[in-house]
Amino acid sequence: MQSIQISASRTYDVRIGSGLLEKTGEWAAELIKGRNCVIISDSVVWPFYGKRTAESLERAGFQTSQFVFPAGEASKNPQVLLEAVSFLAQREITREDLVVALGGGVTGDMGGLAAALFLRGTPCIQIPTSLLAMVDSSVGGKTAVDLPEGKNLLGTFTQPYLVICDTDLLRTLAPEVFCEGMAEVIKYGMIASPELLRILDGAPELSGTAEGEEQKLLEDIIARGVEIKRAVVDEDERDLGGRQILNFGHTLGHAIERCMGFSIYHGQGVAIGMSILTRAAVREKLCPAECAEVLGRLLEKYHLPETTDLPAEKLIEAAHADKKRRGSGITLVLPERFGRCALKKTDYAYLRALLDLGRDA
Ligand code: GLY
Repeated sequence: MQSIQISASRTYDVRIGSGLLEKTGEWAAELIKGRNCVIISDSVVWPFYGKRTAESLERAGFQTSQFVFPAGEASKNPQVLLEAVSFLAQREITREDLVVALGGGVTGDMGGLAAALFLRGTPCIQIPTSLLAMVDSSVGGKTAVDLPEGKNLLGTFTQPYLVICDTDLLRTLAPEVFCEGMAEVIKYGMIASPELLRILDGAPELSGTAEGEEQKLLEDIIARGVEIKRAVVDEDERDLGGRQILNFGHTLGHAIERCMGFSIYHGQGVAIGMSILTRAAVREKLCPAECAEVLGRLLEKYHLPETTDLPAEKLIEAAHADKKRRGSGITLVLPERFGRCALKKTDYAYLRALLDLGRDA
């Protein structure tokens, strides 16, 4: 097992390894005074892992009940959030008790927000079950639900008490969902770690069903991603500056997702965004060709898309709608050397120029 300590407004561990789900109760009992627990999960994850999670907590003396909502981004809304919060009230959860968010990004974001709002804050343990949630959304304290006006508009920065990343839980992921998580792992290599890029490039294709040495390698690359996120969140928990580096590929990625009515996975949008910007950056001589070559090989290895033929005007309009809330300009994340990106404050005309360059290359 690897353990990474996050030192934000709360200090907590992210523990990564095989066979960790069974430790949930023991670890929760060390951190939490009360013994009343609500597990928030969705209709796909609960049948796989709900019983084992509840049993582990019950062995440690917790009384458990579960709030299970229909799986999917459509549930990440204020109505389901209020139902979850009402459930916490009905189960008489106190500030000394526990909320466990067991699932992928939607569950972590919505469950984390329910815990953050109820009684102005109840302890929450995150148990991410997707690769994307393990390396990104469960770590760093962002919680939110969507509004009709846009994604993640109603939320808080509230750090969990513990994050448990049990790599065995990745076994039940659909291969394409594992691969979209790999887009975020590759992103970490591109923004901050030449070593991670070389490891990924030299390794065979990993999957959620990896065994033995390959499972160890998977644990290692998750830990490397979380460690990079730790450094970023420790510096800029509230996303006022440096944390924007985590958005590499996301400005175009979100625009593509939006234009496609969210019919592609988030990680697929990010993959296209990273790929277009990196090819453009090479052509602009902002970074060496090696950046685009290695990125291309890694995206191919994980069956991730590298471009889109959506009209440029539509993409820029969608990017503009997404980013309006940060002001009139735009901050892009651009590769500057192998395993390193930098923030660049610019405008939409430059994004358009990069989009054209990156698609033409
Ligand atoms: N997922 C980006 C962040 O946590 O800031």
